[in-house]
Amino acid sequence: MASVSAQPESSSRTFYIETFGCQMNAHDSEKVIGTLVQQGYTQVEEEEAAELILYNTCSIRDKAEQKVFNRLNDYKKLYKQGKRFAVLGCVAQQEGEKIFERAPYVSIVSGSASYNRLPQMLTQLQAGGQRITGLDDRQTEETFETEFTARSNPHRGYITIIEGCDKFCAYCVVPYTRGKERSRTSTSVLAEARKMADAGYTEIQLLGQNVNSYLDPEEKKSFAELLAAVGEVAGIRRVRFTTSHPRHFSRDIVEAIDAVPSLCDHVHLPVQSGSSRVLGMMNREYSREQYLERISWIKAAKRPISLTTDMIVGFPGETPEDFEDTVSLLGEVQYDGVFGFKYSPRPNTPAISMADSIAEEEKSLRLQLLFDRQREIQRINYAKHVGETLEVMVEGYNSARGQVIGRTSQNKTLNFTTSLPIYPAQGSYVPVRVTQSYPNSLVGEAV
Ligand code: 5AD
Ligand code: SF4
Repeated sequence: MASVSAQPESSSRTFYIETFGCQMNAHDSEKVIGTLVQQGYTQVEEEEAAELILYNTCSIRDKAEQKVFNRLNDYKKLYKQGKRFAVLGCVAQQEGEKIFERAPYVSIVSGSASYNRLPQMLTQLQAGGQRITGLDDRQTEETFETEFTARSNPHRGYITIIEGCDKFCAYCVVPYTRGKERSRTSTSVLAEARKMADAGYTEIQLLGQNVNSYLDPEEKKSFAELLAAVGEVAGIRRVRFTTSHPRHFSRDIVEAIDAVPSLCDHVHLPVQSGSSRVLGMMNREYSREQYLERISWIKAAKRPISLTTDMIVGFPGETPEDFEDTVSLLGEVQYDGVFGFKYSPRPNTPAISMADSIAEEEKSLRLQLLFDRQREIQRINYAKHVGETLEVMVEGYNSARGQVIGRTSQNKTLNFTTSLPIYPAQGSYVPVRVTQSYPNSLVGEAV
């Protein structure tokens, strides 16, 4: 049987990676790819062409978790051809060595808190190692930093500022899969931002499970100060950040947005429920009223700031009245986007011991009602842009429609036509006059 370890040292090893889940995972994969390339591997686009197949997994909801096992099942036959499998990310951390029982052809199981040890794990693999694990969990104090991050977009890139989560919301698996909160120094974040600007990046997205808990280990900067400092890096035109936790969302963030023009006109502030009773059961550490107070700060900003949120419907014990509170919150806040989810019981979480009391059909019904109401709100919100001129960053092209795909500072899609003979370059900034609106996108003409 051919194996990876049987390859001559000089030959280039190949890998395939597929990423599931959130932006944190997408960015982790960029760092993992950089690490592998540094170790002499070459990335390929198909499982069949790779010696090492990596799945960077998500376990936020049951459906996401199932994807990796489906994928492994589809490709396990390749093991006999000498291919090796690595399961990374949240499912790896959550299931640990149980993955080897369920899928004995997997060679590496590693959670994100252990990626610093990937080079050693790869060496073990090449030496013929089996059942290699990185499952350090909540013990780790380190962040995963590498100068070799292989960013997939040359104009817009992520920077991690904080890893892990200490919030322990009753439904959420992340504190168990991503370990405890660890912030990077503002010095290293700013050095990375400057390096990116020098390489031609103009947009930076600061990432963390809970960016508002950012605590500079050098005690130099608060989150709002770090945000402003990144926004002041020469060459950076847009800065976004995600995800914010309402409990720690402080007024100085809005003041920073007011003071620094490059900080984008958008805040994603997941609320999860509009009912204070449910928020209490979820252990969210704020009430509906406290959440609305944060919203009022954001609405009082000098620029109009777009608001988006995450909602969970059907949390154990959510009554029709609680759900009505959630729907009424949509109207009160006037969000520009809502990511809605049906509650999914997750292993290890406190909510797993509460009865999953809402029937699946009822969850689906509530989610549909939520989306229907939100669609009406967005139809009105988006229509207000007609006649405005907004600056977009060019993301791509829809040649079938003869349109350029752009994104506004408020994070809205604005597709536009241009009378110029050639399309503006990807990553360039163009002023566009909005002529038409839909509930999820705008249409316009380059000015
Ligand atoms: N069930 C459903 N949705 C969940 N989320 C997190 N955990 C669960 C769960 N167990 C949602 C939250 C979070 C988003 C990333 O995923 O809304 O903000
Ligand atoms: Fe990201 Fe959460 Fe999924 Fe992990 S469980 S990959 S942190 S969305």
